[in-house]
Amino acid sequence: MKFDILTLFPEMFEAVLDSSIIGRAKDKGLIVLNYIQIRDFAFNKYRQVDDYPYGGGAGMVMQAEPIYQAYLSVADGLDYKPHTIYMSPQGRTFRQSKAVRLAKKYNHIVIICGHYEGVDQRVLDEIVDEEVSIGDFVLTGGEIAAMAVVDAVSRMIPGVLKSEEAFSEESHYCGLLEYPQYTRPEVWHGMTVPETLMSGHHKNITAWKRRKSIENTFHKRRGMLAKASLTDEERDYVERLKNK
Ligand code: ADE
Repeated sequence: MKFDILTLFPEMFEAVLDSSIIGRAKDKGLIVLNYIQIRDFAFNKYRQVDDYPYGGGAGMVMQAEPIYQAYLSVADGLDYKPHTIYMSPQGRTFRQSKAVRLAKKYNHIVIICGHYEGVDQRVLDEIVDEEVSIGDFVLTGGEIAAMAVVDAVSRMIPGVLKSEEAFSEESHYCGLLEYPQYTRPEVWHGMTVPETLMSGHHKNITAWKRRKSIENTFHKRRGMLAKASLTDEERDYVERLKNK
């Protein structure tokens, strides 16, 4: 997967995405991260990329042409259109299912990070396939949101995580939150590890994990249960939790 990220702050990405799992995926060539400095495509001698909004209003607006030229620098000459995402609080909220779909469907994603009060609508209309938000709050720019998307999509690419098990059991993957985890020591601050996990009885352990997943989801994100795929028995269990 290749990500081309159009930004005024490429240095923000290097600090975050060069380390840990994503950094290793990059080293292995499983993902390519390419940062394009929008300012390199400014067309006036002050390297200015923003201007006052027509119609007045607070702040500055990023101009269409530098973003367009930055986009062409990675998209021109290809025999396909790279899937182009604009990070914006107005977009559809990003979810795990979206991360999975993007990882499966595309080999090349362009991400545009806005700044100031916004971006000239015309360049968005011209090149953007979808707007994506990471939540109902406003960041000072799209960079942090873009990093979240790159991270979540990259770890869904085969080979980036050690095994499929690493993500098939985790929160949000199958519509449930994950079960609680424990590691050594066996007793910490007087608290013990649940007995089943110490039993070595695999069937019981699997059942325990599933039940705890359902309980966790019930207590923390009850709304998710409506969409989760549960057996009739598990639905009965949820009903019993409600009546407790
Ligand atoms: N840019 C500013 N706020 C944002 C958000 N919540 N999601 C994505 N991009 C943004």
